[in-house]
Amino acid sequence: MTSADLADRTVTAGPVATLAAGPAAVAAVTAGTAAPTVSERAVPLVIRTQGLTKRFGSGQVAVDGVDLEVSRGSVYGFIGPNGSGKTTTIRMLLGLVRPSSGRVWLLGRPMPEAALQVLPWVGALVEGPAFQPYLSGPANLARLDACDATADPRTARHRIGEVLERVGLTGVGRKPYRQYSLGMKQRLGLAAALLRPRDLLVLDEPTNGLDPQGTREVRNLIRQLAAAGTTVLVSSHLLTEIEQVCTHVGVMSRGRLVLQGERAALTAGAHVRLAVTTSVHHVAAAASVLRAEGLRSITTDGVHLTGVLGEAAPEQVTAALVAAGVDVVGLAVERPSLEQLFVTLTGEGFDVVR
Ligand SMILES: Nc1ncnc2c1ncn2[C@@H]1O[C@H](COP(=O)(O)OP(=O)(O)OP(=O)(O)O)[C@@H](O)[C@H]1O
Ligand SMILES: [Mg+2]
Repeated sequence: MTSADLADRTVTAGPVATLAAGPAAVAAVTAGTAAPTVSERAVPLVIRTQGLTKRFGSGQVAVDGVDLEVSRGSVYGFIGPNGSGKTTTIRMLLGLVRPSSGRVWLLGRPMPEAALQVLPWVGALVEGPAFQPYLSGPANLARLDACDATADPRTARHRIGEVLERVGLTGVGRKPYRQYSLGMKQRLGLAAALLRPRDLLVLDEPTNGLDPQGTREVRNLIRQLAAAGTTVLVSSHLLTEIEQVCTHVGVMSRGRLVLQGERAALTAGAHVRLAVTTSVHHVAAAASVLRAEGLRSITTDGVHLTGVLGEAAPEQVTAALVAAGVDVVGLAVERPSLEQLFVTLTGEGFDVVR
């Protein structure tokens, strides 16, 4: 299988003019600047970008023509090596950085124009959340809560207690924020993002600085939020940390979105390989059976053979091998990991720093 094969099947490329959110979003905006109603926010694509590009003053293109599509109800894993453009993209989504070109819609509304109406429904954790260093975590949350005109001050204490518990920060007491560990800071950032009900959560590397237990807790929290109907975009430079909670995946490499789609589909179907172990005298015969059954990209390594299954059914291939008198010592259906797909697509490992 060539990288072109993969690209043809999995990469969302080209204009996204046919997407449902487009005209609806434009209509919603021309209708006025009022906060979107529940039904207006219920667009099928919660995040959509078109040709999103950021060129910094140095001339470096950090984000290059990215067309993101994040569907309502999904947990979208936004992954890529260090320096691949994830944070810059997220900052543009939230209106924190102005794109050099391209467009962004959040909940069907254009950003940054509709920021005031849309952002209350979007919880965000972006690199280096700004908290008051001399106030405690709970006091910082109380300040943020007080800034929310829709939040009832009488229930603030209850809300803050609840989010602190959700992120595992109960018992922090009055310790000032500046004495927090990196993991505690991340947890407080998450708590701030959860202070009010959200349609969308954008979490930039929420597991940064967390120990394995903390990472598991964040994954569980994401699962709970998704189950309650919140769409989540979560970024990571570590595939394995978030791969298992994601329903969808977008992979960045050198500023480009090289892979996007449903996680199960990306690692299934056309990419599944059949691995056969035979005996030393049957390798050639096994290879010719695999070819005859329509497997592609067949490789042999000693007595081990693999090939891309494509349309072939594993049980049929097994029967054909046996019918041809080939010893079948072992047989397995192998789904590629996202990491293998990434390597195939980009020719790079996952630990590239630009
Ligand atoms: N303000 C800036 N000025 C100039 N270049 C920048 C700026 N911010 C980011 N970059 C560059 O843009 C590229 C993408 O950076 P970005 O922070 O978006 O990557 P990332 O995928 O979030 O990486 P990480 O996994 O390390 O967080 C990098 O090469 C970075 O050096
Ligand atoms: Mg980053």
